[in-house]
Parts: sequence; C-alpha cells; structure tokens
Amino acid sequence: MCYNLPVTKNIVLVGFMGAGKSVVAKRLAHLLKKEIVETDRLIEANEKRTIAEIFRGSGEKYFRTVEKAIVKALSQRNNLIVDCGGGVVLDDENMVNLKRSGILFYLKATPDVIFQRIKNHRNRPLLNVGDPKARITELLKIRAPRYEQADFTIETSNKTVEEITQEILCLLKP
Ligand code: S3P
Repeated sequence: MCYNLPVTKNIVLVGFMGAGKSVVAKRLAHLLKKEIVETDRLIEANEKRTIAEIFRGSGEKYFRTVEKAIVKALSQRNNLIVDCGGGVVLDDENMVNLKRSGILFYLKATPDVIFQRIKNHRNRPLLNVGDPKARITELLKIRAPRYEQADFTIETSNKTVEEITQEILCLLKP
C-alpha cells in the first residue's frame, strides 16, 4: 500500500546499530536527490574527533548532549534524509523534534542479524564488550518501545538495501 505523505518533511531513519540506516539513507538520498545528514558525522565534525574518541575521552553522557544539540539544529531544516545514530530515540526531546520536522522510519532487525552485520566492526563503543550479542539483545529490549514510536516500521532482516529502499519509497509515493 502506498501513502501520500508530504515529502518536504525530513525522512528520518532510526533503529539499532547495524540495522542498515546508513546504506539505506545513502540510497534514498541518491534516488530522491536530497541532501543526507548523518548525526554521527555531524557530531564528529563538531567535536573534531571520532565517536569512539568522544566516548573514551568524555563519556556517553557528554556524547548524548552533543547529539541532542545536533538533532535540535537539523530539526529546524527540511527536505533532508536524516541518518540517526542508534541511541537518538532515547531522549524525549529528540523524538519531539524529529517527529515535528520529519517522517520517522524504524529499520528493524533481529539481534542475530545485527550481530552478523556489526561483528567485524570496532567503531561502536557500546558494543566493544565481551559478549556483544548479549549486549545487542539487552539494549534492543530496552529500546524497542522507543523505536516503535516511529511512524513506520520496516523489517530489514532478510531484505536487500534495494528492497528496503523501495518499501520506504512506496510509503512516500504521492
Ligand atoms: C549508538 C549508535 C551509533 C553511535 C554511537 C551510539 C547507540 O550510531 O551514535 O556509537 O547508542 O546505538 P549507529 O547506529 O549509526 O551505529
């Protein structure tokens, strides 16, 4: 089923690390010829250090403060594809700002699929633990109710980037 949604609103992708937000955001930006913004990259540019360095040097609480300011600023713009860091949904004000300015898509994946996708990456401080799979399951359980506040949920586990992108485009079609 295709919906008629106002596409000048931002298209906002939320979901757990490894859910495919970045690749889908890039594909959407390319097809819709819209600007893409990635909260993590904006944070790194502002801070002039990587996410891992911010977590190591200043802690998660500080990271969330910077993330919140970035979300607030980009929510004052429109026509963007917004690729959100996985923890953006944890803050109530972030949710209000993102929803006011955009349509939220939750890219959903199972813990197993997420683990397979991220296991060879070392750039996610929250998953640099002895048992990342258990951590993924635990965090997903806590975060699921937040992610589910998105306007649409897209199952991504057994789908290609193209299939996920087309599903979102269908939901946006006039
Ligand atoms: C985080 C997700 C990461 C990044 C940071 C914290 C989270 O972004 O913002 O490591 O809390 O889920 P990605 O979802 O793009 O990996």
